[in-house]
Amino acid sequence: MQDTPTNAYAARRARLMDAIGEDAVAIFVSGDEKLRSRDTDYRYRAHSDVLYLTGFEEPEAILVIAPGHDEGATTLFVRPRDKERETWTGRRAGPEGAVADFGADTAHPLEELDDKLPDLMRGREVLYVELGRDAAFDARIHRLLGGLRRAKNRPPEAPTVLKDPREVLHAMRKVKGEEELALLRRSCEIAAEAHLAAMKACKPGMHEYELQALIEYVFARNGASFPAYSSIVGGGDNATILHYTTNRDLLRDGDLVLIDAGCEFNYYASDITRTFPVSGSFTPAQRDLYQAVLEAEEAAIAMCTVGSSWWDIHQATVRTLTQAMIDLKLLKGSLDELIEEEAYKAFYMHKTGHWLGMDVHDVGPYYDGEDYAKLSPGEVQTIEPGIYVSVDAEDVPDEMRGIGIRIEDDVLTTEDGPVVLTGGVPKSVEALEDVVGSGYSFTV
Ligand code: GLY
Ligand code: MN
Ligand code: MN
Repeated sequence: MQDTPTNAYAARRARLMDAIGEDAVAIFVSGDEKLRSRDTDYRYRAHSDVLYLTGFEEPEAILVIAPGHDEGATTLFVRPRDKERETWTGRRAGPEGAVADFGADTAHPLEELDDKLPDLMRGREVLYVELGRDAAFDARIHRLLGGLRRAKNRPPEAPTVLKDPREVLHAMRKVKGEEELALLRRSCEIAAEAHLAAMKACKPGMHEYELQALIEYVFARNGASFPAYSSIVGGGDNATILHYTTNRDLLRDGDLVLIDAGCEFNYYASDITRTFPVSGSFTPAQRDLYQAVLEAEEAAIAMCTVGSSWWDIHQATVRTLTQAMIDLKLLKGSLDELIEEEAYKAFYMHKTGHWLGMDVHDVGPYYDGEDYAKLSPGEVQTIEPGIYVSVDAEDVPDEMRGIGIRIEDDVLTTEDGPVVLTGGVPKSVEALEDVVGSGYSFTV
């Protein structure tokens, strides 16, 4: 994988080995290609755990980490070199390349897995493997374990304890190293440039997919060849559908458009949402709702400090938004009661953020035992409050029906406070009214 130094992968594997110890073996699976239509596959993207530990990008790879093993701790099982297949579907590293370029101590063609994996598990007490993701792989592991268990040797040869490797590995992935932060920052910069381009280009009469195309063009032009998730471009009341990805409608004068789009740059995701008027001018109702969401967002960002928890941040955001819903006549009643009864969920039905990293909804614990996990330096999360008033909402001001607003930034927690990685894209009412429709010209 570009731009991550080889020694970073080795250091990650060393940390994992320290954590699991020499009595254990861990297996990670990159995943198979998936059919999209007839004989055409979805574009392949390896599992982040395998990418994080090796940078190995090809389908079907299996990574085995056996600390202290005679033949080396890191073994990769990979597709073999095959001149004919490579002519059709692209280059393969093969076992030779897995050793030369991806840090494996030993590598074998995939067909040798059944033969060689038992040797890597033999005599170790704990087997770390994620079961329940791929039924065929689960069956294979059970069969190989069964074979080892049938051997009547003493001491027993088969691991007796099965553990999920995600607990250890995902706690590591949650706190980003400097080399990861460099990639995340770039991912965020590219996504910010793309949102700015869409704002500048937006005019009534365009279609949602035209803004999507422009955003994804800016991603690709910067080497981020894939969105981190399906881009959301929702004009008018499409913005009240949280994961709207149809992106087919006309953008109309007088409506807002909500764009939630981020790229994947060298396997690191960005995740930005902006909502702005298609014509460049907010109506009073749109401005009131927008300002309420913006104030909640800025307050939540300020809370992304060491020691606060994602739950504290969410609770504070719920409080700010619920008060705004009362002030704007979306809700009637006392603040505490409306929060207690979760009345705000009619208009704010998701959480305030999630971890961000190699996966857009990144891995890592949200709890620390019974408590909510507290933020540490090097963690990155999104902050994304919103208010969504459906077209058929009852007892709300008419002019607010069909308005959906979300504002989302990506925030790094440091010892010195929060750092917004997506600050390159405007969000104040004034800045948006200035920039929207100001014109974008392609530079090719
Ligand atoms: N784009 C998905 C999310 O904001 O969580
Ligand atoms: Mn998000
Ligand atoms: Mn998003």
